[in-house]
Amino acid sequence: MEFNVAVLRGDGIGPEVITEALKALQVVGEKFGHSFYLHDGLIGGVAIDTLGTALADETLRMCKQCDTVLLGSVGGSKWDDPQAKIHPEDGLLALRKGLKLFANLRPVKVLPMLVDSANLKPEVVRGVDLMVVRELTGGLYFGQPKRQWRTPKGRQAVDTLAYSEVEIERILRVGFELALSRRNKLTSVDKANVLQSSRLWRQIATEVSADYPDVELQHMLVDACAMRFIQCPAEFDVLVTGNMFGDILTDEASMLAGSMGMLPSASLAGIPRGKTFGMYEPIHGSAPSRAGQDLANPIATILSVAMMLRYSFALETEAQAVENAVLATLEQGYRTYDIMSEGKIRVGTKETGDLIAQKVKG
Ligand code: IPM
Ligand code: MG
Repeated sequence: MEFNVAVLRGDGIGPEVITEALKALQVVGEKFGHSFYLHDGLIGGVAIDTLGTALADETLRMCKQCDTVLLGSVGGSKWDDPQAKIHPEDGLLALRKGLKLFANLRPVKVLPMLVDSANLKPEVVRGVDLMVVRELTGGLYFGQPKRQWRTPKGRQAVDTLAYSEVEIERILRVGFELALSRRNKLTSVDKANVLQSSRLWRQIATEVSADYPDVELQHMLVDACAMRFIQCPAEFDVLVTGNMFGDILTDEASMLAGSMGMLPSASLAGIPRGKTFGMYEPIHGSAPSRAGQDLANPIATILSVAMMLRYSFALETEAQAVENAVLATLEQGYRTYDIMSEGKIRVGTKETGDLIAQKVKG
């Protein structure tokens, strides 16, 4: 089969981890007889510097014409001035909105050989295998009004947390569908004791659950959820939540796996069924202080390619080939700096990518 892949390398370690992920994709193509045509585009700080905008219309158009998007990371201290008119992150938000990627899937799986890499006790993180489904194109990130202004009593700012029934229902359905393909447990995370938008969310979750009698639905307040993540993370299967809560909870959850460098993500434009348009990126940022030193862990991006094969190309065997190659490489003791422990073999970005690509080849 033939696929067109938009490749947005971005800033910091983005280009390095993308190079390694593309090695794995290339080998999948050779081994299984697919052609992946790559189309490069600029996003983030590098786009601001060259084009004067964090996401050019042309780049968005190119992404829409492709079958999928692979993204590295955006941002860096160079573009961090809060007074600046444009920020690299604006490019990412515009891309999510422009491609209608409302469903962000962030799986957190603690691999048995990395149980000791987490800051938490091994008995707490052992067996963790959860998936956070984060609403990505609504809520506090996008609600209007959203602005800062001056008043006689000082400066004032507002952001708006708004959700429509349509937005809530479709993201909940993604959660229920994924729960059906996993362990049939769905935790809907909200702040219904305080927020109107959360009360609506909770009502709709209960209504939609009637269509999924095999899935056990549990409602949980976001603060309690943050606590349970540290106390008893293995109890979770699928979680579904709004944009801001999902942003915070997934950084927290990433620490269960030992390093953000291990965690992939998919942002989908529909319920994952057959071939769903999506964008794939590691959940970590651009880590400018690690850039250009062959240090970064490319596994999150390589696992994002596996998610791309699964959700956008419906190539499950190929997806598993990539995931198994990652497991085999870790099994043999190879570790980048972020997951290094005593007695293991320290490797850099390139070597990790080469080892995984070789193993995909088999
Ligand atoms: C993420 C990031 C982004 C977000 C930033 C870079 C805008 O933190 O993908 O989790 O807040 O969504
Ligand atoms: Mg985040």
